[in-house]
Amino acid sequence: MGKTLAYKILENHIVEGKLSPGEEITIRIDQTLTQDSTGTMVYLQLEAMEIDKVKTELSVAYIDHNTLQTGFENADDHEFIKSVAKRHGVLFSKPGNGICHQLHLENYGKPGKTLLGSDSHTPTGGGLGMIAIGAGGLDVAVAMAKGTYSLTAPKVVKVELKGTLKPWVSAKDVILYVLQQLTVKGGVGKIIEYTGEGVKSLSVTDRATITNMGAELGATTSVFPSDENTLEYLKCQGREEDYTPLSADEDAAYDEELIVDLDSLTPLAAMPHSPDNVDSVKNIGEIKIDQVAIGSCTNSSYTDLMKVAAILKGKKVHPDVSLVISPGSSKILAKMAENGALADIISSGARIIENACGPCIGMGQSPKSGAVSLRTFNRNFKGRSGTLDADVYLVSPETAAVSAIKGVLTDGMISGESLPEISNTEFTPNDNFIVYPKGCDTENTEVVMGPNIKPFPRNSDLPENVEAKVVLHAGDNITTDDIMPSDSRLLPYRSNIPYLSNYCFEKIDGGFSQRCKEAGQCVIIGGDNYGQGSSREHAALAPLYLGVKFVIAKSFARIHRSNLINSGILPLVFKNSADYDTFDLGDQLIIENAPSQVKNDTIEVKNITKGKVYSTKSNFSDLEINMILKGGKINAIKED
Ligand code: F3S
Repeated sequence: MGKTLAYKILENHIVEGKLSPGEEITIRIDQTLTQDSTGTMVYLQLEAMEIDKVKTELSVAYIDHNTLQTGFENADDHEFIKSVAKRHGVLFSKPGNGICHQLHLENYGKPGKTLLGSDSHTPTGGGLGMIAIGAGGLDVAVAMAKGTYSLTAPKVVKVELKGTLKPWVSAKDVILYVLQQLTVKGGVGKIIEYTGEGVKSLSVTDRATITNMGAELGATTSVFPSDENTLEYLKCQGREEDYTPLSADEDAAYDEELIVDLDSLTPLAAMPHSPDNVDSVKNIGEIKIDQVAIGSCTNSSYTDLMKVAAILKGKKVHPDVSLVISPGSSKILAKMAENGALADIISSGARIIENACGPCIGMGQSPKSGAVSLRTFNRNFKGRSGTLDADVYLVSPETAAVSAIKGVLTDGMISGESLPEISNTEFTPNDNFIVYPKGCDTENTEVVMGPNIKPFPRNSDLPENVEAKVVLHAGDNITTDDIMPSDSRLLPYRSNIPYLSNYCFEKIDGGFSQRCKEAGQCVIIGGDNYGQGSSREHAALAPLYLGVKFVIAKSFARIHRSNLINSGILPLVFKNSADYDTFDLGDQLIIENAPSQVKNDTIEVKNITKGKVYSTKSNFSDLEINMILKGGKINAIKED
């Protein structure tokens, strides 16, 4: 039986484990990327590992998320990242250069390579035939330090593309269709691999739009073959030598299959408030719109924006519509300035904003109250735009541009216009936005830590007896946002855990952090599904800083459980759920002979105050036991 492309690339990179769905594997990572929002923590973690040069072939630190925040904190973050990058041999992409995924595709992505990024849309690189995976910050720091990444080997889903797209129907409509079919949970634990004759009709940037939004399927990653279109794209970027042809075997066996008939697709839109809530623009009807935003890592390529410029040329943006456009990279903006397309856009009444994530992450351009906003982005969750009562529709750049002129949701098929053919172009190489590390001088490069940047909190070896006081008795379904809020007030302090820790659990119990400081060593008692929601590491790091030694809960959300172990905090599960009710604030608990107990499936916790002993389940893997004994993942890596 032949092999899938995904498994061919993984096989070339396997370091440990059996490459079979569901098995734990470790793979070699060729490249990493970070963006600034997650990057400060990644580089604090990398610093804590005390390495010299990164072990990857290439690592890049992009600044694209928080480019417009006021206050010195933002600029200090950028300077810190730049100095660590220089110290460890990482390329630094200055703010204003563009969006990490677009830039990585243009400048560094290579067919057949592996890429790990601290951003969920890292799979954009799959458009070039890479295995490109988004991961937590600590995983990316470890990949830089050790050159490896461990994951559960995914299943592979074949998406066969048949036929060709009609005019006005684009790659965005393909992925919206796939989302409609598979839903936002349909890709979990899977790689989505695109095959079929229809692949030939899609450019690399089209393919990258599709693999980018594979993240919305929950997929590990998505991948396209590397073919003549890949070669043509790399030639345009002056990187012909990076080309390698790659495809699945003819008789490759897949775990699941979906057929997409490109000929029958029409322009689609994801309606509020989920990327899989998809219907055709025609069925949704001509709703009045207030704002159109074109850009983001999904749809800000040269060909996307040239189509937009062609549609806007000689036309006027509707008086009731605010049209904002953020190009994906400085190269794209420069090229459009050279060829006149930028003038066409500006003359239509559109606003050009910085080459950055911008409105996608709520950095400006929040729509007015109750607005309808069409966006070419990848997410339309309630409130993500910065306006809680806005309705955000996700559409293609073509649909966005036509609608901006008409003032209502519509598409070019409905309005019956003709769209000029747009092809890629050769770019003039320009790396003036890149700071090269020029080798790696760990000894002589000072890491610049402004007053807002504080060292990464560290745990120590697990002591013989762990004694701690109950400081919180929390309910069911505590989210990581309940544990460590991340609103606009606190965002600038992502690299300042001591400051953030003052707000730990503030929504649930304002006295939490003070109680921790008084207790010194602390325990949290939790209900069911403790730590659900986003994967934010800060929800483990702030408790670590405050002295939390273990959490006993009825059950844990998977990622938060891992984050606690990564921090050397023990997540323990009540064997008898009813024990949950018997604890009180201030109870003094102890785990005796902790280093030998963590190797067992049951850990006994004594309540000194009440004179009772409780049984808890741990079920730690060997890797997890090692991390707990050493006081967290970073310490364990350092000793490896
Ligand atoms: Fe940036 Fe939005 Fe993509 S925040 S990386 S443009 S999903």
